[in-house]
Amino acid sequence: MKVTAILLAAGQGTRMKSNLPKVLHAVAGKPMLWHALNAIQAATTEKPIVVVGHGAEAVTEYLETSAQTVLQEPQLGTGHAVMQAEPVLNGKTDLVVVCYGDMPLLRGETLQKLVETQKKNLGPISMLTVVADDPRGFGRIIRKADGTVAAIVEEYGATPEQLQIKELNVGGYCFDAKWLWGALKRIPKNPKKGEYYLTDAIELAVQDGLPVLAMPMDDREETIGVNTRIHLAEVEVAMRRRINCEHLLNGVTMPDPASVYIEAGVKIGKDTVVMPNTYLHGKTNIGEGNLLGPNTIIRDTQIGDSCKVLASVLEGAVLEDDVDMGPFARLRKGAHLGNHVHMGNFGEVKDSHLADGVKMGHFSYIGNAQIGANTNIGAGTITCNYDGEKKHATEIGADVFIGSDTMLVAPLKIGAGARTGAGAIVTKDVAEDTLVVGMPARAIKKLTRKPQK
Ligand code: UD1
Ligand code: CA
Repeated sequence: MKVTAILLAAGQGTRMKSNLPKVLHAVAGKPMLWHALNAIQAATTEKPIVVVGHGAEAVTEYLETSAQTVLQEPQLGTGHAVMQAEPVLNGKTDLVVVCYGDMPLLRGETLQKLVETQKKNLGPISMLTVVADDPRGFGRIIRKADGTVAAIVEEYGATPEQLQIKELNVGGYCFDAKWLWGALKRIPKNPKKGEYYLTDAIELAVQDGLPVLAMPMDDREETIGVNTRIHLAEVEVAMRRRINCEHLLNGVTMPDPASVYIEAGVKIGKDTVVMPNTYLHGKTNIGEGNLLGPNTIIRDTQIGDSCKVLASVLEGAVLEDDVDMGPFARLRKGAHLGNHVHMGNFGEVKDSHLADGVKMGHFSYIGNAQIGANTNIGAGTITCNYDGEKKHATEIGADVFIGSDTMLVAPLKIGAGARTGAGAIVTKDVAEDTLVVGMPARAIKKLTRKPQK
């Protein structure tokens, strides 16, 4: 049976007061749209259709090939939005799941259950509902005596009695496709708002004498829709709690989960401890038995096992096993630290490989460099890799001892086992097992200044 989702994302999201389309606002580091599509994927068999309108270009660009888009222009309501998908979907699917792009907490399992409910339904619609004290402006569910749904009444049009109803329309539906395309054409224009409401399809099914099933959800949190940035913040907290709980259940320790920020999609192995005020972003994979934080930011980084990272910032880096870093260390893009590397306070590494056992205790900058195994980088060492125009490489062999405050003026090669004295300014290659010292600064030529722009 073919099941296809239509995700509605054409609305303006006026109350967000933003230049960014609402569905592109991030929750746990990923656009709301990503979360919605993730849930949809679990419950459908075909590529989803996303209805775009406001900010269509940005949304389409974000989607790339993950979904097909149809344009709704102008935006005349949720029923009108679904109608835009008919030309591409009619005859191509058995069931249609419709959900809204502003509900990032809705789970794939919930949509799966909804689809299963509809498969057993003799009528054309199954829908998600929730019983809650706070109605949040949601449509109210009117039930018939036999328990099937009679209608959805939108809040602005409800009578005082109807406003008391605690069962609410979540905004997730599964339709029999054949019935849906015909019904959409019969939805009347709402006399007050001039829009076509998808929710009016329920009454049409009832008029056809066909049952509409409601599937009440237990988890209220899942049903939070984002209309304002207050809702966005609520959803963020809920999503963070959900993500952290998954990691806790998988064997990750967090003494204070509420102060740990882990983006969706980050992987962490068991017995890793994530301390407070630690942020794990982007494409980050972390192995087992590590100690991360407190006060650490890690983005797009691969970490092996048994590493310690204290109060440091890592971006686009690789750490093998037993690396010990920080406090106050910084890894930038292309930093690769081998097994047992020690990197102490106030060091920065960029586009460089530090082989196994390299020690770099304090105040150093290593850029565009290859450093051999067990080499010691003395305090204050700098690879002078930039001449104002180009970056140059530094190659240091194994078992080298770089004395404190050495300036390594690239391009430069230092042979294995070599040694530099404290304060050396090294401008020429050094042979293996050789000691170099000195070279105080002295005038060697007149420079021609570049003209000011
Ligand atoms: C809708 C439901 C309401 C439900 C609530 C749950 C209708 C008429 N009402 O109300 O019963 O309780 O969601 O959150 O469906 N959209 C379009 N094109 C349009 C209009 C909207 O794509 O022309 C999209 C929006 O981008 C949004 C979604 O549909 O993602 C829902 O629209 P919104 O205006 O937020 O509906 P609600 O008033 O929240
Ligand atoms: Ca909404």
